[in-house]
Amino acid sequence: MKILVVGGGGREHAIIKKLKENQNIKEIFALPGNGGIAADATCVPIGAKDIEAIVSFAQENAIDYAVVAPDDPLVLGAVDALNAVGIPCFGPTKAAAIIEGSKVFSKDLMHKYGIPTAEYKSFADQKSACAYIEQKGAPIVVKANGLALGKGVILAQTVEEAKEAVRSMMEDKVFGESGSMVVIEEFLEGPEVSVLAFTDGTCVKPMVSSMDHKRAGDNDTGLNTGGMGTVAPNPFYTPAVAAQCMEEIFLPTVRAMKQEEREFRGCLYFGLMLTKNGPKVIEYNCRFGDPETQVVLPLLESDLFTIMQACTNGTLEQTEVKFKDGSACCVVMASKGYPQKYETGFEITLPEDGEAEVYVAGAKLQEGKLLTSGGRVLGVVSTADSLQQAVDKAYANVPKVTFENAYYRTDIGKRALSAYNTEA
Ligand code: AMP
Ligand code: GLY
Repeated sequence: MKILVVGGGGREHAIIKKLKENQNIKEIFALPGNGGIAADATCVPIGAKDIEAIVSFAQENAIDYAVVAPDDPLVLGAVDALNAVGIPCFGPTKAAAIIEGSKVFSKDLMHKYGIPTAEYKSFADQKSACAYIEQKGAPIVVKANGLALGKGVILAQTVEEAKEAVRSMMEDKVFGESGSMVVIEEFLEGPEVSVLAFTDGTCVKPMVSSMDHKRAGDNDTGLNTGGMGTVAPNPFYTPAVAAQCMEEIFLPTVRAMKQEEREFRGCLYFGLMLTKNGPKVIEYNCRFGDPETQVVLPLLESDLFTIMQACTNGTLEQTEVKFKDGSACCVVMASKGYPQKYETGFEITLPEDGEAEVYVAGAKLQEGKLLTSGGRVLGVVSTADSLQQAVDKAYANVPKVTFENAYYRTDIGKRALSAYNTEA
């Protein structure tokens, strides 16, 4: 079997390493991959958004199966294009990827099918948006309709701040066309949980839950980032909450998508907030989360490729999706200054093989050397019987990775551990 994985971050590195456990897979190509992924797959310099080139490459190289991991190519229709030339894929079609591609679509879907989410209204003009903000008061949340690299969400503490956010999105177009419509919604409070779920369009099999750490600084301070670390499972997501989410959120969402003739096959990501009025959907993503995947897949006991094929073929019901009992922790090592300005080009030294699990996100190979090339450089991941052990092990391994100007949070897992301690 020859597999193609579209994407080139830490998430893709984790997917590729897990796929390699399947003995039938003889070769994996990563488009574009990165300098670290090059140790586990053949990297080909084709951008994840260059759908035409991806399809040509897949045809020329007789690819048997493709995994499209990032949001952009999914929303642009990479799966449709690959399917059209007879290549089966893991990932939703363009029609289904809209669940992430348009916040107006996803909010309207939840409203129509009674799926719990923050109260909201969407606007195509600035004046009515501002009038609604004045009527509702602060705190209030302003979201750009389209994809905005995770930066299109403003949690406004004052009415003025919310109106300014609307102005910058709709007038200054800071997110381009993504901000031509905005969603204004109620500010929710409670612990956040990420649940990635496999689905074949009918059956849903959730993976182990996880917790992201989005802010750049310790104790959830500083700017929002793509994610500075994760732990799994998430202690706030109890079996009772899981059962409630299945009935009220996961199954209704998959049924709703089918009803709308946008059947979703692939990994559906539920960003949830556990409010005092029950779990609510903060956002849907049409793909594996990053860096959630880096803690979820190492805990997967069943074969990933078999599950992916079951999602494609509609046989997920009969396919085992089993997770190990332990915990996992991922500490992201970033370039100092991220998510704003940072320098790249520093040499990375990695631990010896088998000494620590590392998933590389932003690095390139140059003359045999691995150099930093992005904001989030890599994730150090560990698994252990307990969360405390997983966290301790990840932090013990962090110093084994070195590069100039490395920055990481020192408190990944702290909030999750405090939940266990309060329970005890
Ligand atoms: P997103 O980019 O959609 O993942 O949103 C970024 C972060 O903003 C989320 O992880 C939440 O912490 C926060 N957020 C989004 N929507 C709301 C809301 N309605 N109320 C409170 N926080 C929110
Ligand atoms: N970690 C959040 C995301 O993948 O969108």
